[in-house]
Amino acid sequence: MEALLRVNNLSHSFDYPLFHDLNFTLEKQQSISITGVSGSGKSTLLHICSTLLKPKSGEVFINGKNIYKLPNSELIKIRRNSIGIIFQSHFLFKGFSVKENMEIAAILAKTNFDKNLIERLGIAHILKQKPGDISGGQQQRVSLARVLSKKPKIIFADEPTGNLDAATAKEVTSLLFDYIEANNAALFLVTHDLNLAKCCDTTYKLENLELKPL
Ligand SMILES: Nc1ncnc2c1ncn2[C@@H]1O[C@H](COP(=O)(O)OP(=O)(O)OP(=O)(O)O)[C@@H](O)[C@H]1O
Ligand SMILES: [Mg+2]
Repeated sequence: MEALLRVNNLSHSFDYPLFHDLNFTLEKQQSISITGVSGSGKSTLLHICSTLLKPKSGEVFINGKNIYKLPNSELIKIRRNSIGIIFQSHFLFKGFSVKENMEIAAILAKTNFDKNLIERLGIAHILKQKPGDISGGQQQRVSLARVLSKKPKIIFADEPTGNLDAATAKEVTSLLFDYIEANNAALFLVTHDLNLAKCCDTTYKLENLELKPL
């Protein structure tokens, strides 16, 4: 069966080379984590794998489709329906309340607003507030709720616990792992937290242009 995500001979550089000839796959119910020093290219790799950035060379397959060979309309469909991206910095609509942010995502993905998710993430009491009036960690959890409510097959999470205290980080982490288990989905995680990284099936360090198993 086709892997959910397959990366073939992937290379990219900006001012300097970031990685060269990477190869890996991510199957259903599997998780992969990428660690590495700041500036090593982790977020860039996540953006390339999640439809947002065309690599200098190499291929990315999502559900067997060579995504950067697809017409833009197809690429947007995959981005909207099959994947969920939790960014290192959050993109919530500032003029809307937390609840409205959640509802917009649900409408776009044709799903329902998920009350359980809200309870579990501990954000039920801030639904009426605007993103500018809640903390960084709360914004992070709203972003996560928004992403999960559209039921993506692959979750790309860039430092999803970066702004959270230890207890909340633990809850967010278990939510992510429960989600991929229950939905036959997969997780691509970028993190500086080695303990979190090691919870994944495969843990890599991006170093000297390569992904080294940890
Ligand atoms: N769009 C861009 N144009 C030019 N250079 C970029 C661009 N995006 C990233 N870079 C550069 O590529 C390098 C890797 O950036 P990236 O964000 O992938 O690192 P990272 O490993 O995620 O770091 P951190 O742990 O700090 O988040 C950095 O030197 C960054 O300045
Ligand atoms: Mg980064």
